[in-house]
Amino acid sequence: MGTDRVKKVCIVGASGKLGQYMVRHALDRGYEVVGVCRERSVPKLAAFEGRITVVPGPTNDPEVIRRAVAGCDGVLTVLVPWGVQQYASGTAQAVLDHAPPGARLVFSCGWHITRDGKDRYSWWFTTGVRIAALLGKLVRAVEIDDQVEACRRIFASDTRWTVVRGSSLEEGESQGLPVWSRHVGDPVLASNLTRRVDFALFMVAALTDDTLVREAPAIVGRRTPSALAHSGGGPRNHA
Ligand SMILES: NC(=O)c1ccc[n+]([C@@H]2O[C@H](COP(=O)([O-])OP(=O)(O)OC[C@H]3O[C@@H](n4cnc5c(N)ncnc54)[C@H](OP(=O)(O)O)[C@@H]3O)[C@@H](O)[C@H]2O)c1
Repeated sequence: MGTDRVKKVCIVGASGKLGQYMVRHALDRGYEVVGVCRERSVPKLAAFEGRITVVPGPTNDPEVIRRAVAGCDGVLTVLVPWGVQQYASGTAQAVLDHAPPGARLVFSCGWHITRDGKDRYSWWFTTGVRIAALLGKLVRAVEIDDQVEACRRIFASDTRWTVVRGSSLEEGESQGLPVWSRHVGDPVLASNLTRRVDFALFMVAALTDDTLVREAPAIVGRRTPSALAHSGGGPRNHA
């Protein structure tokens, strides 16, 4: 486990909630940080002024990403389904195309993304995702299909990727590194809740965890009832 060669990381989508937590974790580890966010969101990163480099611009702009990821050992990307302009797949493609060869690429998404079709979802979960996708499309605000397409491209790539699939999220103090499993439906994940700060912790920790290369871990908070019942605080991989 682990590579100690990560020194400089790019965080794509740094201004969002998950992004800002990742900036903090990366700085705590002593990494040099480059953050990418939309021009209008740069003020959201004011707390980090002087400690990170900000590259403003749309995250699906290949030229913006090419500049931002230059010289980075790792790239942490927040994949969001917002808008109707293939924002998620454009962002993923730009990172896949321009990250330095051999860099660790870690992407975020939700449990609704499946890598091998072996995830087992509840009726409520599937219906919720379908309704969100339909309503999002109707009001032209959300493109869940495009986040699926983004992940399809990542899964097909021969880069050193990890796709971290987040459960439902909540705010609150860290509970430590989430536990993970390869398939939604596995008992350890049943609580379906993770602190956002710990989702970010898992993303940053994945940079130096080679066991996660080409994995799509589904995560859950390590102090949730299902994690406590099925991991006993033991190994965090329940794949
Ligand atoms: N929310 C949940 O319950 C949940 C559950 C499971 C997994 N996830 C995953 O967790 C990750 C972060 O999700 P989050 O909900 O916590 O969001 P978040 O961290 O607040 O991030 C939202 C991101 O979306 C960008 N954004 C917002 N509106 C946009 C638009 N119209 N066009 C382009 N970009 C836009 C934001 O950029 P600006 O700062 O520029 O606005 C920001 O980078 C995602 O990968 C998501 O799939 C979320």
